Amino acid sequence: MKFVILQLCLTVAWAAPRLDPLVDSKRGLIRGLQATDGDYAMFLGIPYAMVNYTNPFGPSLPYPNFEETFEAIDDTAICPQINEFNNQITGSLDCLHLNLYVPNTATSLNRLPVLVWIYGGGFQIGFSGRYVYGPKYLVRNDVILVTVNYRVGPYGFMCLDTPDVSGNQGLKDQLTALRWIKENISAFGGDANKVTIFGESAGAASVDFHLISEQEKLFDKVIMQSGTTLGPWAIVESNPNAPIILADKLGFDTEDSNEAINFLASVDPKLVIAVALESNLNFMPCVEEEFDGVERFVTEHPINSGIPKAKDIPILTGYNNREMLVGASIGESTDLDVFEKYLTMSFNFDDDEMMTLVKQFYIGDETNVGDVKDNLIDFQSDIMFNHPVHRSVQKYLENSGNVYHYIFSYSGDRNFVKWRLNVTEDGAGHADEISYLFDVSIIQETPTEEDQTTIDRMTKLWTNFVKYGNPTPDITELLPVQWTPVTKEVLTYLDIDNELTLKRRPFHDRMAFLDLFYSMNKHLLKGYKD
Ligand SMILES: *[C@@H]1O[C@H](CO)[C@@H](O)[C@H](O)[C@H]1NC(C)=O
Ligand SMILES: *[C@@H]1O[C@H](CO)[C@@H](O)[C@H](O)[C@H]1NC(C)=O
Ligand SMILES: *[C@@H]1O[C@H](CO)[C@@H](O)[C@H](O)[C@H]1NC(C)=O
Repeated sequence: MKFVILQLCLTVAWAAPRLDPLVDSKRGLIRGLQATDGDYAMFLGIPYAMVNYTNPFGPSLPYPNFEETFEAIDDTAICPQINEFNNQITGSLDCLHLNLYVPNTATSLNRLPVLVWIYGGGFQIGFSGRYVYGPKYLVRNDVILVTVNYRVGPYGFMCLDTPDVSGNQGLKDQLTALRWIKENISAFGGDANKVTIFGESAGAASVDFHLISEQEKLFDKVIMQSGTTLGPWAIVESNPNAPIILADKLGFDTEDSNEAINFLASVDPKLVIAVALESNLNFMPCVEEEFDGVERFVTEHPINSGIPKAKDIPILTGYNNREMLVGASIGESTDLDVFEKYLTMSFNFDDDEMMTLVKQFYIGDETNVGDVKDNLIDFQSDIMFNHPVHRSVQKYLENSGNVYHYIFSYSGDRNFVKWRLNVTEDGAGHADEISYLFDVSIIQETPTEEDQTTIDRMTKLWTNFVKYGNPTPDITELLPVQWTPVTKEVLTYLDIDNELTLKRRPFHDRMAFLDLFYSMNKHLLKGYKD
């Protein structure tokens, strides 16, 4: 029987040989591949811009026209960084590529909506290929998926208050890619007027930066998973000394930031990454100074900025129910110092009084870390992710169309980070939801029935939102709940667990406490302006 079926498949494949998809773009012909795990075509590694090798820390250049057909078959490009999966310093500056996954149903008469993924990785790491971000589950729902590389670490986020290196180059790479998509996606059967951008962690903060930026509107919906510009980790001050420090570590002695930058531009990027990792410099988004003729992306600290562009943009955002679970379970940073460590990321306190209050709220008078581990996880999760998202939701409410809020609590066999680090505790940690949206190639086990249901639900909710601006336009067997948006009066959210349940006010006591705490200490927030 098996043999017969195999024969049949071979016969069908033989009878209907598929041509490789060939697309005529404005820059020349691009040839992709037919996928073998679904009815879609892949265009891998299309260059959307080019790093300026004279100044790899600054603006990118347009990519020249293709003289011959561009063979879009390689999704392994990675910008210089340490690869988190093998701890090797890797990557090259020829990395401003994007991958396009196009369902076979897309035609010029049936243009499909587009979903653009911006990876996370703390602005230090990440790459867009199928190694992690496999498209199979999402494209089944008749959307085009685009995954975008952008510069990270020193090449993406060197921030010097100079016109050549004004900062946020990684975010500007994303912007360039979004412009490319707007201009070119119709050649691939995409609908340039239906573009949703989505991201996780630093990717979600990136999406939020696009939302608050003053650039033209290149998307009409946004999804932010476990990240916002209000995260205490999302922005730092510019540091004109950074290149001098890096150059010094590479044996080039200068006091002049420009000389140091020119030197670093001439050095193998892997060496630059190596010394950046050894330093305690932070290469992160920053507020840029204004220069004539230089495109500016982050113009003020997010805590002070409005979001005029959010008007009429539906927003879907949320976080996982135990964000900081994984760090704690593998023995990282769970001691009583976490209160000071995390609170001083956001606040300038003169004394310990406020920090003591927070500590008492979370752990009372306990001094034994082992007895309060879960409380410490809650505190760290709240400060890093939950409460920033919660505050963003309030901010969006004042500016946006509909805001859909979720908490992902599902604990299955393929929660991404728990799976990688062998964490067996219950709950969903940071980035655990990724493997229910993407076919992560390193997870080779076939999904269990429950996990497959979660994959089907997540991808259906997300792609419904992309198509209709509403994750549950109909009640179905798969999605038996109507997910209603947040209102000023009722903070509804969808709890995504073994079942889908509509609930109200996630972690109510903790969020209410922190709401009070933040409004009381607002003037002490770093970056705060009256
Ligand atoms: C895509 O759009 C840009 C404009 O943003 C254009 O300059 C470029 O030629 C297009 N690229 C391709 C490959 O068609
Ligand atoms: C590349 O960067 C250098 C240094 O900032 C600049 O002088 C040059 O004009 C840039 N190249 C192009 C083609 O813009
Ligand atoms: C997780 O467990 C597997 C199998 O026991 C092992 O091969 C792997 O090294 C472990 N990974 C970590 C990060 O501990």
